[in-house]
Amino acid sequence: MDGQLIDGKEIAGEVRSEVASEVEELRDRGTVPGLAVFLLGDDPASKSYVRMKTRDCEEVGIDTRDFFLPAETSQDELESRIDEMNEDPSVHGILVQLPLPDHVDERAITERIDPARDVDGFHPVNVGRLAKGDADAFRPATPAGIQEMLSRIGYDPEGERAVIVGRSNLVGRPMASLLLRKAAGGNATVTVAHSRTRDLGSVTREADLLIVAVGRPGTVDADMVSEGTVVVDVGVNRVDDPDREKGYRLVGDVAFDEVREKASWITPVPGGVGPMTRAMLLDNTVLAARRNAGSSDA
Ligand code: GUN
Repeated sequence: MDGQLIDGKEIAGEVRSEVASEVEELRDRGTVPGLAVFLLGDDPASKSYVRMKTRDCEEVGIDTRDFFLPAETSQDELESRIDEMNEDPSVHGILVQLPLPDHVDERAITERIDPARDVDGFHPVNVGRLAKGDADAFRPATPAGIQEMLSRIGYDPEGERAVIVGRSNLVGRPMASLLLRKAAGGNATVTVAHSRTRDLGSVTREADLLIVAVGRPGTVDADMVSEGTVVVDVGVNRVDDPDREKGYRLVGDVAFDEVREKASWITPVPGGVGPMTRAMLLDNTVLAARRNAGSSDA
């Protein structure tokens, strides 16, 4: 039996409309949520992500300030612009699109952002809070989006064996922290596998919930998945396809067609995790604005 599709696009639409109502309430109370976005250089993929993020913000009523700066922008210049945004009461969230050019110290930039405005959740203070299991830590957008979509299909990871393939700071590590939390959407038994894991298939076959975030097509095939597994594919990879107008198509890290036959639920690529990531950035920005407005429900 084919697994059911987890429609990230549709679920993200639900999240966006809920965020839009929250924004309206905040606006009625005198707070207009604001997000500052920095992009250095003109990498086409980063530019397109940033454009989509700002378009999403407009749709839900979040004010955006975009800083499209030249690739040569110095460390000092970027830091002083971040400082300005840290001081600006109309800016509740700050996002610096990664990766940054080689001459910029990414770690110093990440640490420059006020943790209360760090809607990516990349500042060590927020990473630490999440790792400690604190309930009020910002959840980085991709793992938060995965947690949200699992909850909305009615899947509860409590007591389940979750296997995450990939140990990145953006996805694998924060995903493990979220699934371990003593809270709704957590309480799983978590294993993090990675490029040095011996016999990956023997680990992934143990999973009730399998989350793959490696960035390599075909990392997980049907032999590596047990019947009834919930499969979340975070990979977005371009593969050549002369039949497509653009000359390529997007595929995930999971061999979708064959794995779907064994999965109970599975996310497609595109249209799975990606739209959820964008929606959760909006959610975090509203959370930051609500906290700043002193609301007790933040
Ligand atoms: N680059 C790729 N993903 C992300 C993200 O979630 N946030 C930022 N700031 N940069 C990214």
